[in-house]
Amino acid sequence: MTVALIVLAVEIALLIPLFVYMAITGISPVPTSRRARRAALAALPGRLDGTLYELGAGWGTVAFPLAQAFPDNRVVAIELSPVPCLFMWLRARLTRRPNLVIRRRDFLEQPLGDAGLVFVYQYPDMVTRLEAKFEAELSPGTPVVLNGCPLPGWAPQRTTEVNDLILSNLFVYRAPGRENPEADG
Ligand SMILES: C[S@@+](CC[C@H](N)C(=O)[O-])C[C@H]1O[C@@H](n2cnc3c(N)ncnc32)[C@H](O)[C@@H]1O
Repeated sequence: MTVALIVLAVEIALLIPLFVYMAITGISPVPTSRRARRAALAALPGRLDGTLYELGAGWGTVAFPLAQAFPDNRVVAIELSPVPCLFMWLRARLTRRPNLVIRRRDFLEQPLGDAGLVFVYQYPDMVTRLEAKFEAELSPGTPVVLNGCPLPGWAPQRTTEVNDLILSNLFVYRAPGRENPEADG
């Protein structure tokens, strides 16, 4: 009985913040599928310069494989929701990826001037906001990969329809010239 109560209390303690942050961010931490993740990694150049960002990293489905595939790059997994963050912190302790940094923060506040790659899986309104941020902050030519919905004003270099359960779409871009080079942080 006591164990059952403890399990129930832990479940509630994890579920409540999960749902609260889904309401705050407007999106659930649904992960990129394994096939989409593989297709995204396969679409990347063999060498990347700079910091690799996953904006809204969820459970680390993409950030951890990125850190493994690019051991010489710093990979920054940014996530606002505390439960997925906690999961990533525990996972990082077990897998020991020295090049992986997990940050609990709003990715809109993260300067991206040093980015060598940005990976995003967000909803259309947020993607539109991110497009303006990318135009202001990313160095020209920075690879940007989106799962789900495309950047409305950019032409993708490559589009991949993934044969997974939800028929994910991947969009691979290169950042255009910057409108506001002073936005680096
Ligand atoms: C659809 S999930 C994608 C998870 C992961 N990127 C993947 O592809 O497996 C979107 C994630 O973005 C996070 N998120 C949404 N808005 C955010 C923000 N402003 N700052 C940080 N994280 C955010 C959500 O909490 C959620 O975990």
